[in-house]
Amino acid sequence: MKRLFKGKKILLLMMSLVFLLSACSSSGTGGQTDSSSSNGAGKSSDKLVIGFSQVGAESEWRTANTKSMQNAIKDAGHELKFSDAQQKQENQIKALRSFIAQKVDAIVFSPVVETGFETVLQEAKDAKIPVFLADRAVDIKDDSLWVTFLGSDFIEEGRKAANWLVEETADTEGDVNIVELQGTVGSAPAIDRKEGFEEVIKDHPNMKIIKSQTGDFTRAKGKEVMEAFLKSDGENIDVLYSHNDDMAIGAIQAIEEYGLKPGKDIKIIGVDAVRGAFEAMAAGKMNVTVECNPLFGPQMVDLIEAHLAGEEIPKRVAVEESMYTMDQAEELLPTREY
Ligand code: AHR
Repeated sequence: MKRLFKGKKILLLMMSLVFLLSACSSSGTGGQTDSSSSNGAGKSSDKLVIGFSQVGAESEWRTANTKSMQNAIKDAGHELKFSDAQQKQENQIKALRSFIAQKVDAIVFSPVVETGFETVLQEAKDAKIPVFLADRAVDIKDDSLWVTFLGSDFIEEGRKAANWLVEETADTEGDVNIVELQGTVGSAPAIDRKEGFEEVIKDHPNMKIIKSQTGDFTRAKGKEVMEAFLKSDGENIDVLYSHNDDMAIGAIQAIEEYGLKPGKDIKIIGVDAVRGAFEAMAAGKMNVTVECNPLFGPQMVDLIEAHLAGEEIPKRVAVEESMYTMDQAEELLPTREY
């Protein structure tokens, strides 16, 4: 009788353990998924809660990127917790801490600058919340603090811009004076686009960057800084290399107001390939834009689902990109998605 009672107790204990375990795994919190909830392709079909800390709304590119992420998360049936950092690192750190406190299943993070995120990323790791880097990388030794980086090769973008210029000015005698509008100070695209561009032009001693300043990736700042460049060096500027199209578009306005012809008197190189750049190129005011594709929301959702389903994913996933010149603009403008 006593033995039978003891057996029943063990059975009950085992049943509650099984119940507890299945309850934990179906919540998805902490990156665990139940294999019974797999959708057959090895990915989780659970509804996930995804926190997305975005840089801001500084450019056409950023707006397109935010939409792409929001739509992809919604279309996949997951819940999004969104935070716009307004280009401020302290806002991003706060947002990440709030996602951790809310125990989200995954964090997507597009860091405004490369450094200074170790502590908060360690907190996410301690809470077993996987972090996915979107668009911009971090400069952190411990790469176990993030799962993967999905984004563009910004150094290559800088090289492409410079290679276009080398070809374009192949027959030019004398110096080619370049002014540079840099992106946000300390951000990966600003650092890398400068590096890639300089790497190429260093082999062409006639190419000189005569002025270089940040325009913070915005049209307004791009215009303001270009006005200052024109004021001091107006007649000497041959080329503007702008780390994004928005700053280039702001600068084009400054050049016109100054009385010069953008695209002719001053050659304009941008990065992103946003609609505004295609419009400027179609109007003959901008020469070239190097593509930086922001439409990677669906790819990011796939990566999150794959990781949470226990699949191995690469540490770096590149976005495919091209480059567009003035003569292609009119034809391609109607096809541009952003
Ligand atoms: O990180 C990508 C860059 O950020 C884009 O090139 C720029 O437009 C944006 O604001």
